[in-house]
Amino acid sequence: MPEPHSPAISQPANGGVRVVLRGVRRRFATGVEAIAGLDLDLAAGSFVALLGPSGCGKSTLLRLVAGLDRADAGEVSVGDGTTRPSIAYVFQDPHLMPWRRNLDNVALPLELAGVPVAERHEKAREALRMVDLADAADRYPGELSGGMRMRASLARALVIRPRLLLLDEPFAALDELTRHRLDDQLRALWIELGMTVLFVTHAIGEAAYLAERAVVFSRRPARIVADRTLDLPRERSFSLRADPAFAREERALYEALVRGEAA
Ligand SMILES: Nc1ncnc2c1ncn2[C@@H]1O[C@H](COP(=O)(O)OP(=O)(O)OP(=O)(O)O)[C@@H](O)[C@H]1O
Ligand SMILES: [Mg+2]
Repeated sequence: MPEPHSPAISQPANGGVRVVLRGVRRRFATGVEAIAGLDLDLAAGSFVALLGPSGCGKSTLLRLVAGLDRADAGEVSVGDGTTRPSIAYVFQDPHLMPWRRNLDNVALPLELAGVPVAERHEKAREALRMVDLADAADRYPGELSGGMRMRASLARALVIRPRLLLLDEPFAALDELTRHRLDDQLRALWIELGMTVLFVTHAIGEAAYLAERAVVFSRRPARIVADRTLDLPRERSFSLRADPAFAREERALYEALVRGEAA
């Protein structure tokens, strides 16, 4: 197995923010009720995996937390409410601009924020280093593998040093080895950067491997059918996947998903 990634970071971590949802409800104009009164409290700096049946409201929840959509009722608060913390969102599709080299794709959020070119390139290079893509700074998305594109997308999220990182099935389209490698990188980055991470996945093993806590949703409208603190060591490596403790967590999540489907 490849070594878990350990980059040298020159900037201090910003620290994760707490995310609180109270009585959140989202009903679309079509009449579809995606979320009907949800309470969820994510501790600052936690890594939480979110599982649930297809169409239950996971992406809707991420969009609400990201501020890309508004709840019809209830409250979503991110951070202490005084300043708007930096939030990054990673989609299943890397969404890279094909005509921009990696460096300029990764620098895009800073460019949009008006950061001068030398500074944004320096930060983009650092973000590329974090995901082991330093050598590919001048390459274009079309010249990259799927896993490399996903890492570039992750670098673009990290370039703003988010205090909250939202990921929506980011590695779902990748082969298993690449996914495991990215799981290790993401977990190492979480430990290093100290941000809060909310990770949506359909893969039970991925949820158990990555997170400290897993929340399982029922079918739509989403309700919480399980909320588990995973009883696993902080240091995770490939051997954990064969550990009985890991199998226990996977089984508990599997059973919760089955309950959620039937609910
Ligand atoms: N903008 C929208 N307008 C109307 N309905 C929507 C909209 N966005 C989502 N929905 C509906 O809300 C429900 C929840 O959708 P959402 O995308 O949150 O599910 P999900 O849990 O992310 O599913 P998946 O695991 O397949 O990605 C679905 O029935 C979906 O069709
Ligand atoms: Mg979704």
